[in-house]
Amino acid sequence: MTAIPLPAAWFDLEPLTGDDATVRGLLRDPAHPLVEAVRRTPTQQGRELAAGLRSAIGAHAEFTYPAEHGAVHAVAMLAAWIGPSPESIHEDLGGTVTIVRSGLGHRDDQQWHTDSTPWWRPNAMTLLGHVHLGLGFDAPATELLPLVAVDEAMAAHPAALQVLRSRPVPWRSKNFADRKQFSAPILSLDLPRWVGSVVAELDDEFAPEMRDAVAVFRATIADLSPVQAVVEPGRLVMFDNRTNLHRGPHIEPTLDRRLIRIKLGGAPD
Ligand SMILES: [Fe+2]
Repeated sequence: MTAIPLPAAWFDLEPLTGDDATVRGLLRDPAHPLVEAVRRTPTQQGRELAAGLRSAIGAHAEFTYPAEHGAVHAVAMLAAWIGPSPESIHEDLGGTVTIVRSGLGHRDDQQWHTDSTPWWRPNAMTLLGHVHLGLGFDAPATELLPLVAVDEAMAAHPAALQVLRSRPVPWRSKNFADRKQFSAPILSLDLPRWVGSVVAELDDEFAPEMRDAVAVFRATIADLSPVQAVVEPGRLVMFDNRTNLHRGPHIEPTLDRRLIRIKLGGAPD
């Protein structure tokens, strides 16, 4: 896959250093000097970026940046260019911007899932940048499973597919029982949702045909070949959370791998 270079002009400035709170601060501040710099993006560089971003919608894309400037700067600039409104930046149910640690305690991250299943409207796009990995180790690939491939494979199981498209699942009833509840199908046309462990906890409550459909879905996605994308110094990955399942690599927690993740679009409530 061709990676799209982020505008060189964004890296003529002092690197933004800090953490997820720093990035949230920038995205909430239209007068931030780096947001001002985004508003001065040179035309040709902006054109290439616009085309690259369009190519990520419905699929995924990779973006390159000068590694020495750091991913915090790179993701902040790209997110500012995409332009979530300052009021939409939130810290609810995982939040808009987070530093995520790979490995121990994140078993769901390493299994096929979509992001933000408990959100009323899951985020549209997920942007990932490399923050840290133990010295001397190469970054392993993040894997994507395009839902177009899942749909095609599920065509062999039309009864299960019909159930998965239409039968609502209560996405907050186990982990967020105190919040306002809602239900939505796994393969909903506009906003698909999948976290295997959450669905497994609901198994007792499902009708037999739903239980069967979920079993077929699990077996189907386990058999498909993933697409690989590497988040590493100098390279960001952005994928459409509405058209892909994804999973993180298996990685030793001792390597202390940290990524910065920005969820673009969507709303927790
Ligand atoms: Fe995820």
